[in-house]
Amino acid sequence: MTAVEDIADVRDGLPAGRDTVRSEIYSDPGIWSRERERIFEPGWNFLAHESEIPEPGDFVVRYILEDSIIVSRGRDGTIRAFLNVCRHRSMLLCRAEGGSARKFVCPYHGWSYDMDGRLSSLPLERPYFSTSGVDREELSLRPLPRLGVTEGFVFGSLASEGEPLEEYLGDFAWYLAIHTRRDPQGLEVLGPPQRWIVRNNWKIGAENFAGDSYHAQYTHRSVLEIGLHPNSPKDFQGRGKRDGINVLAGPGVMRLARQSAAERGYPPDMVDLFRSTLPAPQRDLLFGDEPRWPTGGHLFPNLSFLNAGAFVAERRLVPFLNVRLWRPLDAETIETWSWVLVEKSASPSFRRDSMRSYVLTFGTTGTEEQDDVENFTQMQRGLAGVRAKDVPQQLIMGRGLREEELAMPSFGGPGTAVATTYTDAGLRRFHQLWERAMAAPPSAAAVARPDDAGVPA
Ligand code: FES
Ligand SMILES: [Fe+2]
Repeated sequence: MTAVEDIADVRDGLPAGRDTVRSEIYSDPGIWSRERERIFEPGWNFLAHESEIPEPGDFVVRYILEDSIIVSRGRDGTIRAFLNVCRHRSMLLCRAEGGSARKFVCPYHGWSYDMDGRLSSLPLERPYFSTSGVDREELSLRPLPRLGVTEGFVFGSLASEGEPLEEYLGDFAWYLAIHTRRDPQGLEVLGPPQRWIVRNNWKIGAENFAGDSYHAQYTHRSVLEIGLHPNSPKDFQGRGKRDGINVLAGPGVMRLARQSAAERGYPPDMVDLFRSTLPAPQRDLLFGDEPRWPTGGHLFPNLSFLNAGAFVAERRLVPFLNVRLWRPLDAETIETWSWVLVEKSASPSFRRDSMRSYVLTFGTTGTEEQDDVENFTQMQRGLAGVRAKDVPQQLIMGRGLREEELAMPSFGGPGTAVATTYTDAGLRRFHQLWERAMAAPPSAAAVARPDDAGVPA
């Protein structure tokens, strides 16, 4: 295997038009090492939803690369994040995935820490460590260098310097708010995240959600044929009534259906709640003369959104909201983390049905997830060959459409909206962000900005 030493080697395959990517970027150890340094260490990594730790003392253990991180809610209600490493001899401190605690006690020698990370006690402290007691502040758990919470989503960074989270999100925050601000009480998780390990590079899953609407008509055809969805196979033929809108917004992509919340399966009481709760700009976009509803998207580098649905009973469509993280374990392996979120005001029956809808289609038991994972792993196998790495991938969908067919001049949201989801615009945006982060100096990698003009639809 040839390591790619310099980003220029990769950029040769990514001309300004951004129509191809080279397959070696999905398995090359040199690329992976650079991704760690330029993307995952300095960038904003999704850690948790605040509803996973609603009460003081609640915590979850999460990861950025190999760093294990405790995300906890302190007695004062503040969310904090610490490296999950004992300050004594670097023992992994907490081995539970989550829970509620008053203290973290290290299994090795028994040092204990408060939920705010402060060293609380250590056996035999006086006089063996110090006659006057050790410096508790000095020996507190190491805070994660940066933590950001927005709209209930908790992000962290391994770099102490960099762009604030809100600045990083830019226009994408407007679309995130469509999900988080449609219920006055916000969102909450339905249980802990599902996790599963798959043999593919992290970008393959991310790309699928960032811009591959195309695959649904073929990969998921059997799901359409058995009637798990209201869509029929012919809805996916060409630019039928199911074609949606693709929005490139900041470091993300969001897709919208030309359908109302009711058509997407939300019951009348929830639709009324959404309409009366959403901020005016988002409400006008979704509930205007032409109804729209978000169906999914992606936030660079590795967080995806899916607001889909399925029939949970004969012709009873129920939606779900899924957030998923493509956590890289190495160049060719990911651990997918998948949360189901629901509006806090939702009824018990909607919550139950929403989870059913999800498990039928996505997650560890989902039909569509299994369709997708098969593609992801076989794509990884396909590109693994020595010569296969030279075969460029084509990101050319949408090039056949004229500008006037794509333009949405009166679209009511920020970013660049194009009038179809049958375009690789989202994939090209993903690779533009990727290239910029990879080409930037390490300290500036996370602040690489997208260039709207550079990503033709
Ligand atoms: S390593 Fe944790 S108490 Fe010694
Ligand atoms: Fe899929």
